[in-house]
Amino acid sequence: MSQSSLLVTNCSQLVTLVGPARPRIGPEMRELHIINDGAMLVKDGHIAETGTREQVEPLAEADTHVVDAGRRVVMPGFVDAHTHLVFASNRADEFEMRCAGMTYQQIAERGGGIRSTVRRTREATEDELVTIGQKHAGWFLRGGTTTVEAKSGYGLTVEDELKLLRAVRRVSETTPLRCVPTFLGAHEIPDEYKSRPDDYVDLVVNEMIPAVAAGKLAEYCDIFCEAKVFSVAQAERVLTAAKQHGLGLRVHADQFTSSGAVELAAKLGARTVDHLEQTTPESIAVMKRAGVQPVLLPGSVYAIGSQKYAPARAMIEAGLPVVIATDFNPGSSPTASMTMILSLACTQMKMTPAEAITAATVNAAWSLNRGYRIGSLEAGKSADFVIHDAGDYRELAYYFGGHRAHAVFAAGMRV
Ligand code: NIG
Ligand code: FE
Repeated sequence: MSQSSLLVTNCSQLVTLVGPARPRIGPEMRELHIINDGAMLVKDGHIAETGTREQVEPLAEADTHVVDAGRRVVMPGFVDAHTHLVFASNRADEFEMRCAGMTYQQIAERGGGIRSTVRRTREATEDELVTIGQKHAGWFLRGGTTTVEAKSGYGLTVEDELKLLRAVRRVSETTPLRCVPTFLGAHEIPDEYKSRPDDYVDLVVNEMIPAVAAGKLAEYCDIFCEAKVFSVAQAERVLTAAKQHGLGLRVHADQFTSSGAVELAAKLGARTVDHLEQTTPESIAVMKRAGVQPVLLPGSVYAIGSQKYAPARAMIEAGLPVVIATDFNPGSSPTASMTMILSLACTQMKMTPAEAITAATVNAAWSLNRGYRIGSLEAGKSADFVIHDAGDYRELAYYFGGHRAHAVFAAGMRV
């Protein structure tokens, strides 16, 4: 139907990221496959053609709607593969305590941290959480992100975890932001189980996971495997049960201590291991052998005032298909800005701007099992793209702190 065709033209750079149908590794991460003076034809919400203006403009029909990119960069919408999209309130109070010298972990040990957000999220209704999630969705979209993975994990009762996942589903249905839901019931040990954590693991395994799977409320299951939170043995129970119920696996691993979480994730065939600030060369080799994708979260290093970023260069050199993500959450990483993450990836982890963009688009899409549909500008994929206020893609990582996308499209519709 030509009615719904769209020509995007006059792009200084059309950053296509075309390539093999798999995540990019090693030197492939620096290959963005840019078309200078590019154009793209969209039909029925899908990409029909990409090429130079000369090649693509003649394909437009009389009723094709034309979008002039004004010599700006056009690239795929960012895919944010690790977010805690929905939570009640914020933790500005704890932020102020951290500014005065307390650490993230000290605050958590005194009952704050994740558990303080849990207390407030339990008090919120599903409708209130949907409204909050919609507000956050607007933040992501304005920054050029069109897909997010969205975790639960601030409910920690059967009903409150289901409430969060239903809220995520409604945010996805009522906004242009695509949300991929992840069940994170094992995010923290709730107050009422502090003295008997294994009983809480029983609840996650015996009640939460079956209910989440029965309601088809999540595609993935995640766990915070960390000293003083969930042990490797507890994580094995949770992740094994999730796998038996058909959920894919993602793991918060090696954030503060290197605990063996990566090895467990590899053994169970997890899709991703996330954080990895403390990871070792041995664990990098384990990830490579098992085909697990690392998801690096430099925003959470920056915001808690740590200096120790994940070893991105060693991972790229080892041939791992690195992903970067915001880790958007009210504690360790209160940002929805993927361009901020590009900046941190380049300045702090020494990735090149091209590697960072690959990690935030096509590699992230594959980590969510969406690589066939999103993450690059290729014929057949969904027309999720962004016109950025930049003439050169490197500006996205170079300027920091103030980026707003010029125009955002999801499935060919302007957001
Ligand atoms: O990825 N590490 C555990 N979870 C989050 C933090 C959540 C919070 O502080 O509320 C993270 O950093
Ligand atoms: Fe996280």
